[in-house]
Amino acid sequence: MSKLSVRDLSLSGKRVLLRVDFNVPTEERDGATRITDDTRIKESLPTINHLRAAGAKVIIMAHFGRPKGEVNVKYTLQPVANHLSTLIGAPVGFSAESIGEVPAGLISKMHNGDVLLLENVRFHAGEEGNDEAYAKALAALGDVYVNDAFGAAHRAHASTAGIAHHIPQAAMGLLMEKELQYLQGELKDPARPFVVILGGSKVSDKIGVIKALMEKANTFLIGGAMAYTFFRALGIPTGKSRVEADKVNLATEILELAKAKGVRFLLPLDNLETQEISATAQPRSTGLVSPAKGVSDDWEAVDIGPETIALYRSEIAGAKTVLWNGPLGIFELPPFASGTRAIAEALAASDAVSIIGGGDSVTAVKQFGLGDKVSFCSTGGGASLELLEGKVLPGVAALTEKA
Ligand code: 3PG
Repeated sequence: MSKLSVRDLSLSGKRVLLRVDFNVPTEERDGATRITDDTRIKESLPTINHLRAAGAKVIIMAHFGRPKGEVNVKYTLQPVANHLSTLIGAPVGFSAESIGEVPAGLISKMHNGDVLLLENVRFHAGEEGNDEAYAKALAALGDVYVNDAFGAAHRAHASTAGIAHHIPQAAMGLLMEKELQYLQGELKDPARPFVVILGGSKVSDKIGVIKALMEKANTFLIGGAMAYTFFRALGIPTGKSRVEADKVNLATEILELAKAKGVRFLLPLDNLETQEISATAQPRSTGLVSPAKGVSDDWEAVDIGPETIALYRSEIAGAKTVLWNGPLGIFELPPFASGTRAIAEALAASDAVSIIGGGDSVTAVKQFGLGDKVSFCSTGGGASLELLEGKVLPGVAALTEKA
């Protein structure tokens, strides 16, 4: 890895501007904001603890929601400061402004090892506009910059990218390093067989990833509603399943590309179909599909079926590297969760390097209590997809090269 790491910095007494992704799901209950999943906060603790132990003054920048450049109390980071304080077992100061005299005054009183969280950077239009004046005003608050916000690294914003050009050293944090190690390093020359599991609702969301991984994968296992656009391309009846009609030609192209490259591109052998999307629905199996028999008229496919589960399980058992992005069915509803659960269990049981590429598949793995049984769960949704597509992430590109 050619970028400077937080491990390369001399930190004692330094004011470290640390960008993290604290964009966590919350809910309002009894007039208070409650964090419903603090994974992203917990995943930033190794870097925060490393900085504190090394005697840095830790000044944290983060965004929360999409307040569109305006102050909106609904998106304040204050509750996150309180939660972080509980997690690190130390006070976390909070600055109601992200730039200017307010944070500068608070920072001037910090001791080595202290932590201060700045208010949501997206309260300033300059953040998303990657405005130079805003980036400079943030940079003026610190001596060095550390970016640990992998989940926001695909955004070229002032606090994720612009700031790096106005400060002497800009380094990756430990989470950023780990994300790049798994989503880039491990997949550069993956141990084989390399199996890619792709699900989710749309082919169009995954097209970049499919094309990029077609150069590396031995086998694709396809599920989720995106499978039915491929069914349509093969003339298999899809009933009322979600099909992207304008992507059928693209699906044909992908199938042909896989054939030309000798990549195995497996689609569901059978499916669960339902007439009702609800937690009490009773789906039935379509049986094995063929151009003569697929999803029934007036029924919608909502999960992979038992034959597919068996096939995908054996593919996973034989793999040395597995990458998974996108659920195989509507796993949020118990009657349609068995395919996604079976895949998560197969990954948990395998010896392969197992990488879960962010978003819904990570939610699923965690929901089944298997998060610590896989090699790696990414904290990035859009960022992990863009990285897997082979795109350069602005938040990484902006960091200082290692000498
Ligand atoms: C995310 O939640 O995916 C990141 O924090 C980026 O948020 P954004 O999509 O609002 O830029």
